[in-house]
Amino acid sequence: MSLPSNAGPRILLALSGGIAAYKSAELARRFTKAGCDVQVVMTDSALRFIGAQTFQALTGKPVRSSLWDEAAEAAMGHIELARWPDAIVIAPATANTLAKITHGFADDLLTTLVLATDRPIFVAPAMNRLMWANAATQANMATLRSRGFRVIGPGSGAQACGEVGEGRVAEPEEVASVVLAALAAGAAAKVVEGPLSGRRAVVTAGPTREPIDPVRFITNRSSGKQGYAVAESLRALGADVTLVSGPVNLPAPAGIRRVNCETAQQMLDATLAACADADILVGTAAVADYRPVEVAGQKIKKKTETLDLALTKNADILTEVRAAQPELFIVGFAAETEKLAEHARGKLERKKLNLIAANWVGDGRAFDRDDNALTVYWADGELAIGPAEKTEIAKQLAGLIAERHAAFAAAATARPVAKAPLKSKAKAK
Ligand code: CTP
Repeated sequence: MSLPSNAGPRILLALSGGIAAYKSAELARRFTKAGCDVQVVMTDSALRFIGAQTFQALTGKPVRSSLWDEAAEAAMGHIELARWPDAIVIAPATANTLAKITHGFADDLLTTLVLATDRPIFVAPAMNRLMWANAATQANMATLRSRGFRVIGPGSGAQACGEVGEGRVAEPEEVASVVLAALAAGAAAKVVEGPLSGRRAVVTAGPTREPIDPVRFITNRSSGKQGYAVAESLRALGADVTLVSGPVNLPAPAGIRRVNCETAQQMLDATLAACADADILVGTAAVADYRPVEVAGQKIKKKTETLDLALTKNADILTEVRAAQPELFIVGFAAETEKLAEHARGKLERKKLNLIAANWVGDGRAFDRDDNALTVYWADGELAIGPAEKTEIAKQLAGLIAERHAAFAAAATARPVAKAPLKSKAKAK
């Protein structure tokens, strides 16, 4: 069962309870006028500020407001509703709703939908200036941004409470134009024909964090930029891409599925799952090689002059995936401070990789920069790429991956006993 549908993009417009709720009527009108199919969801507090009838009249659909509405749930359950839209827009987003979604609450329909969706989410915060400036709200916003939430506004000016400052909800015109532009870009990015059309690629990116106690962790230096650029370049060549990402400060690229993780173990689990039906794995992540043997339940106090931290080895993700998927085309990275070719070729063999992209690190090279240079090695060849911007490096590397993978796939079909790595066409997103 699905909602009656217009041809345009589907937008789930969610309102939490603030005086700015009346502006969302104008926002709903703008979305429907632009040809969007709009479903409004309101929290109980939002219903205190503006009536559901207004939105029903504007969108032609009854408003959803409760997890316990049997008739509505029978027509379309909340999990199905979470998958229905092309985008979720929370406007106004109150401090309370933002805090709840930051911490994964699911105690009403709006927060449950946010937790159960993999669609892009836009939030238009609206609150008193001191609530907005409060460290708790700002920390929540930083977390949401790092998870790929798109934040629109807030603006500055006279507030409903009589004070003047930052916290006014962004105007409907601005919210509508940001959301519609992003949806148009996403639609353009959706259908890509290229040498990797019909292939599924998994890219690991960013660092991992290995907790020591509730406030400390061990990590590697990695901005994730190179990995994100590789994911985008593979997508541009037509691949269906899953990005398994450690904590980074980058938005989820358009048209790419992102799975967030923190520890090496979580990254291993997510990568193994994503690789089950993949053709290509590119390991750009800077995975922590070791983790603390024990994670302290409480913050470790500085009682002693020295502190020993016992570490234990993490599993090597590429090696584990190779063991599970002997026919997968695997590309590794090697960051080296010396003997680049020797160490890279050593890893190529040890980890049974198909390609390895090696780069020099240290002395300000590669990390937190937009440029890089690589030498890519495979069993019987090598190619130098760059120095150039990481996006350009990624483009050339993706081109090489497509080329080498095509040769690998052709050889695999020629091998009588090998499992053919050709996969069916990518699922429509
Ligand atoms: N890698 C991995 N899992 C790990 C460590 C590394 O999948 N636990 C992957 C990286 O994503 C990269 C490649 O292995 O593609 C090489 O990573 P690197 O840190 O250079 O090599 P290590 O195998 O850790 O060897 P060393 O640290 O001794 O150089």
